[in-house]
Amino acid sequence: MDTLCIDIGGSGLKAIVLDAQGQPLGERVRVETPRPATPAAVMHALAGLIAPLAAFDRVSVGFPGVVVDGTTHSAPNLHPEWAGFPLAATLAEHTGKPVRAANDAGVQGLGVIEGRGVELVLTLGTGMGFALFSGGHYVPNIEMAHHISRGRRTYEERIGNAARERVGNKRWRRRVSRVIAQLEPVFNYRVLYLGGGNARHLAAAALPDNARVVANVAGLLGGLRLWD
Ligand code: BGC
Repeated sequence: MDTLCIDIGGSGLKAIVLDAQGQPLGERVRVETPRPATPAAVMHALAGLIAPLAAFDRVSVGFPGVVVDGTTHSAPNLHPEWAGFPLAATLAEHTGKPVRAANDAGVQGLGVIEGRGVELVLTLGTGMGFALFSGGHYVPNIEMAHHISRGRRTYEERIGNAARERVGNKRWRRRVSRVIAQLEPVFNYRVLYLGGGNARHLAAAALPDNARVVANVAGLLGGLRLWD
């Protein structure tokens, strides 16, 4: 069983084909997310992205918004037209293979969690992804990103990429630490995983003992586990 794993992001569309053991069959490929990022534009870009890849038997997709039964409900950093878009069905029709789609932070989490106790995954990229796991089970679509964190600002407005670019890495790191301190006593997780493209800017941050920075590539590896 070879799986085409796709990660739809606010700045890039990424894809890789993995074998049943999670070994890559060829390169990971990436293109910029088209703007405006309508479903039609993203589907068109994905078709070009995956055309040269190795053959596959099934498809997993991580999507930066709420996904229920393969249909997208929102995509704050893409386009309003994603409300009600049949993502899995459209890709299944295009590829002729079965497709599973889930929120991107959930897919990323599946790639890194241990499956023991409560584990929380935050992804730091264009937006802020949030995925909660209990005993390895994913609680889907908790949209913490758009809740108020402090003052009138949401979590994503404080620690999303636009904020990082505005305030610089030093202040952004401090904000991430404060966000962790805010979430920890609410969710009482055993482990916190920090992933996403901006997690690398946390290298110099003093993180709590139960927090781990994970490689962004997990966003693609988790696609395999969507089928477990
Ligand atoms: C979305 C989440 C998504 C996160 C990371 C947020 O803006 O609301 O659903 O997981 O960005 O892409």
